[in-house]
Amino acid sequence: MTAVAPVVAMENVVKEYAVRGQGGKGTLRALDGIDLQVARGEIVGVVGESGCGKSTLAKLVVRMESPSSGRVLIEGQDAAALSKDEIRTFPRKVQLVFQDPYGALAPRMTVGGAIEDPLRIHGIGDSASRKAKVSELLTLVGLGDRLASRYPHQLSGGQRQRVNIARALALEPEILVLDEPVSSLDVSVQAQVLNLLRSLQQQLGLTYLFISHDLRVVRYLCQKIAVMYLGNVVEYGTAETVFSRPRHPYTLALLNSIPDHQVSMRDQRSVLLRGEVPSPIERPSGCPFHTRCPMAREICSESRPMLREIAPGQWAACHFSEDVPALGDQERMSAKAP
Ligand SMILES: Nc1ncnc2c1ncn2[C@@H]1O[C@H](COP(=O)(O)OP(=O)(O)O)[C@@H](O)[C@H]1O
Ligand code: SF4
Ligand SMILES: [Mg+2]
Repeated sequence: MTAVAPVVAMENVVKEYAVRGQGGKGTLRALDGIDLQVARGEIVGVVGESGCGKSTLAKLVVRMESPSSGRVLIEGQDAAALSKDEIRTFPRKVQLVFQDPYGALAPRMTVGGAIEDPLRIHGIGDSASRKAKVSELLTLVGLGDRLASRYPHQLSGGQRQRVNIARALALEPEILVLDEPVSSLDVSVQAQVLNLLRSLQQQLGLTYLFISHDLRVVRYLCQKIAVMYLGNVVEYGTAETVFSRPRHPYTLALLNSIPDHQVSMRDQRSVLLRGEVPSPIERPSGCPFHTRCPMAREICSESRPMLREIAPGQWAACHFSEDVPALGDQERMSAKAP
């Protein structure tokens, strides 16, 4: 998907969980053959409704989980194929920032202790140098040194998330996987944390895999977008192309749910989402979106569309991408408003 050697590459990644349902044991396919590449210094956004597999994808990239099949490569290296020595330094390259700032920080550990923790675990520096590093990191994320002795409950949501970011940066990673990092924050605080993330990315030359169910947040920060549906990437491309000319009916429906991104009234009937997301235990045949797709035809329930390049730098997994209606422009919309 990109000409530059990727720092993160997912190759046909499948993740299945064994689950117990009403009919006994079953298999839940959380990721259904993901191909995704992230180039160095890029901010790639991953969007999709709850349950589509975003957090599972994050866990695989940071190696909290391993794929059922397929490969996850970090800087061309497959964690599953590393030697013991290589394994020791490998996790430092990729760090995860979670959504919930409360849950991520231990309540009885001070802020300074929490940021120092990964350094201690990896045996980096002595007590004095680690303290200096903590103070440097607190400054980097826009917090004062004096916060080092505070406890998580004494901080605001925004401050806690800054501490989480500082903690993730302690080991000087190259890649941050951010799983809904601003979703639990107030809108005004969201903007501050997003601005911090943007400036850190530029300052430190980081690569971000930025996960969110909120398209506005992703549009603000990301250069590339991967749209997920039921464990699949259904559309991928630059933020500019995906937001201005989506080529998958699901992307169009998601964009239509953002107030300032609506399609013209004429096209509405072809883009509104209907029905529920199917269970990943009983996946639909053919196109995973066919049970809800307003554009579905007979072939859609039989044949699964593969991700293909529809326009330069834009891929979509739909048999009828060329027929996806264009987004209506704002002027036409406001002209129609009563
Ligand atoms: N450990 C697990 N065991 C069983 N099912 C899981 C597990 N983790 C996630 N799932 C299921 O996998 C699917 C994708 O979940 P998740 O990756 O958390 O989605 P998202 O982050 O997009 O909301 C969901 O149906 C979820 O219930
Ligand atoms: S392949 Fe068919 S069902 Fe799937 S998104 Fe395209 S038109 Fe809709
Ligand atoms: Mg999630």
